[in-house]
Amino acid sequence: MFSVIRSEEKSFRNLVNGEWKDSTSGRFIEIRSPLDDSIVGRVPAMTTGEVDEAMEAARNAQDAWRIKTVSERAEILNAAADLLIENQEEIANLLILEIGKDHKSARSEVVRTADFLRFTADSGKNITGESLPGDSFPGFKNNKISVVKREPLGVVLAISPFNYPVNLSVSKIAPALVAGNTVVLKPATQGSLSGLYLARLFQHAGIPDGVLNTVTGKGSEIGDYITTHKDVDFINFTGSTEIGRHISKITEMVPALMELGGKDAAIVLADADLEMTAGQIVAGAFSYSGQRCTAVKRIIVIDTVADKLVELLRNKILDLKVGNPLEHEALDVVPLISTKSADFVCGLIDDAKQKGAKLIAGGSRTGNLVEPTLFDYVTLDMRLAWEEPFGPVVPVIRVHDKDEAIKIANESEYGLQSSVFTNNINDAFYVADKLEVGTVQVNNKTERGPDHFPFLGVKASGMGTQGIKYSIESMTRPKATIININL
Ligand code: NAP
Ligand code: G3H
Repeated sequence: MFSVIRSEEKSFRNLVNGEWKDSTSGRFIEIRSPLDDSIVGRVPAMTTGEVDEAMEAARNAQDAWRIKTVSERAEILNAAADLLIENQEEIANLLILEIGKDHKSARSEVVRTADFLRFTADSGKNITGESLPGDSFPGFKNNKISVVKREPLGVVLAISPFNYPVNLSVSKIAPALVAGNTVVLKPATQGSLSGLYLARLFQHAGIPDGVLNTVTGKGSEIGDYITTHKDVDFINFTGSTEIGRHISKITEMVPALMELGGKDAAIVLADADLEMTAGQIVAGAFSYSGQRCTAVKRIIVIDTVADKLVELLRNKILDLKVGNPLEHEALDVVPLISTKSADFVCGLIDDAKQKGAKLIAGGSRTGNLVEPTLFDYVTLDMRLAWEEPFGPVVPVIRVHDKDEAIKIANESEYGLQSSVFTNNINDAFYVADKLEVGTVQVNNKTERGPDHFPFLGVKASGMGTQGIKYSIESMTRPKATIININL
């Protein structure tokens, strides 16, 4: 796979109109592994002229792609799924090196993405329209029928984050393509080698020239140019709230789907099965070192069961495997993506320590590897109560009752997901109904999948809805043709 996308040792190319293009400026960005600082590759810092070419290619390929049958488009997605599985080991190894994923998470990202492609192919074939009789509206006779079908929007700009460079690229590309859109993919810089590899797979799978194009370069340099580009009809973005807000501010009349940051709460009521709850919370908080939008990022527990829960959490945290994926295969907590991220997480830890939170586990750091950390007695004046660490540190906030738990949960600026742990179905619904989030998990950790479920954030956590069927709907619009019958 690499032979075409890499021009000379470790210098990569971009896919533009079916060709792997060398950088015209000769400006590259070094992608270093968060695991050993080795250079994994160099990606072009594309110029605005090169971006224009990618956009123009996507625009020009639109007409031919949208009139292909949905079965033809779906077939390419299925072929890409097969190729992902065939190349699973190589892609997983790239994910390990480029973004420091543990082996199990890297492999499961590939398999999940293949499943996503196949499901999207099937869902695309099941897109339906409707016909509406005119006489159901007051004052109209039965001489009108509206035939409504779904049309692609045009060129989709897909911007993905570093933490799932394969999966969160495909979750945008596949629904866009099956619905007849063409795509320009701008992967996270740390993750762009995986994004380029993915584009190569699509090319092998038979994607026509110009239907999928890639753009690499730092968001801080080319972000504004690509998001305000005249050829973009829809922006499908996953990343931080800060960048999502910025994109919203500078774009005009361009619809967007945004999945942003979170501060997911696990609310634990007094009657919860605490052993199961602790297992779910630890898995939810610390897998891939908490670098997941849906990681459990605060625990809000009724004080009568807090001591017991904290003890169970501590024991499970001590069992977590911590280390470098280049040295160990089975790990839960791995080095963070960058020194900046590790510094940020440690800033939250220091603030909690200074303000009197009780350190239960972890708290220290070796390089960018931050130990899985749990604080008890976190109070609302601490940064850890509100800020998203995107790292392995979780606060326990003790409350008197479920209403206080709901109040604190809803005071967050974020609203991605929450969990509620209880054996009382009435309490589960009482809490779920009052939480201002996209999804409430009852007796489970917060998580995105299964990928055909709706996935969305409210407040600062996003706008629009992902999930296979919902993503297809987001990237299509109704087109009505009205038959007027001369009665
Ligand atoms: P990020 O820094 O916001 O970057 C996300 C993407 O935006 C990257 O491709 C980045 O490119 C690009 N970008 C940066 N500045 C831009 C600009 N001005 N215009 C356009 N694009 C720009 O986020 P991240 O560090 O990759 O991911 C972590 C964050 O994403 C966390 O807050 C997490 O909660 C959130 N996230 C949310 C979800 C969800 O579904 N809700 C899923 C995953 C992650 P560069 O890499 O080149 O800067
Ligand atoms: O990081 C954000 C992802 O959308 C989370 O997905 O819950 O499957 O890890 P996940």
